[in-house]
Amino acid sequence: MATQSDAENQSSAVQHDSRLWTEDITLQYDDRIISQNLSVTIPHKSFTVIVGPNACGKSTLLRALSKLLKPTAGNVFLDGKDIAAYKSKEVARKLGLLPQSSTAPDGITAANLVAHGRYPHQNLVRQWTDADEAAVLSAMDVTNTTNLSNRFVDELSGGQRQRIWLAMVLAQETPVMLLDEPTTFLDIAHQIELLELFKDLNQQGNTLVAVLHDLNHAARYANHMIAMKDGQIAAQGDPREIVTEQLVEEVFGLRCTIMEDPVAKTPYIIPLGR
Ligand SMILES: Nc1ncnc2c1ncn2[C@@H]1O[C@H](COP(=O)(O)OP(=O)(O)O)[C@@H](O)[C@H]1O
Ligand SMILES: [Mg+2]
Repeated sequence: MATQSDAENQSSAVQHDSRLWTEDITLQYDDRIISQNLSVTIPHKSFTVIVGPNACGKSTLLRALSKLLKPTAGNVFLDGKDIAAYKSKEVARKLGLLPQSSTAPDGITAANLVAHGRYPHQNLVRQWTDADEAAVLSAMDVTNTTNLSNRFVDELSGGQRQRIWLAMVLAQETPVMLLDEPTTFLDIAHQIELLELFKDLNQQGNTLVAVLHDLNHAARYANHMIAMKDGQIAAQGDPREIVTEQLVEEVFGLRCTIMEDPVAKTPYIIPLGR
């Protein structure tokens, strides 16, 4: 099992294979420290899934990785440069974030919201182009939201809205995507559909980082898993190596038995109950 100390020993080697990593960051809201001395490496071109109990600091970490939250100590690096040194629009051309919850402006249609994903690619001289239009149509196509184009976002169901927000991130066409609970409001078929889409995007060379609550989905789709507890990393590595009964008990306080997923041959967690 890869532990935090293994990760530390390897960190300098791993970082050469990453374009997004943190070094000894402290993350806090006012005086309240969420993470301290947190060093995380997102392997380049990986599909990394972050798991961990509610309030352990997953969303806070994604905010730091996307420059929304400034660490009070330590640094976040993107493409070899401190993320603090980038303009927000530059970050947005490299990295897209699907936040855990977002509120759309009143009266905006789905297609207009997705079009907002193209904002980082525009400037005063370069206005809306065919490439922008194509990116929006393609993002709505792969998220199965084309039929919602003219609907008002605030009138959609939770699952439809989530797919529209995801389409906005896809339209941004960044090589790195950070997705905070992208499947939470979706039915099982839509969950799998999106996970398969993420797998395709990863195979096309994109780096994906997703927070997922379903451990079995995480173990099945991630090629790198980060298990967090109390703002720290409890384990990281290939889910087939790190997902153990001990880890699930340690991180979630849940007793379980682990079997092999008969389809994907990845770890399958069966909770034992009390
Ligand atoms: N904007 C905020 N202001 C103050 N505290 C926050 C804020 N956002 C999150 N927190 C707190 O930080 C901790 C970690 O939250 P979060 O990163 O959202 O956890 P997770 O995503 O793992 O559920 C929680 O205790 C939460 O209450
Ligand atoms: Mg969260």
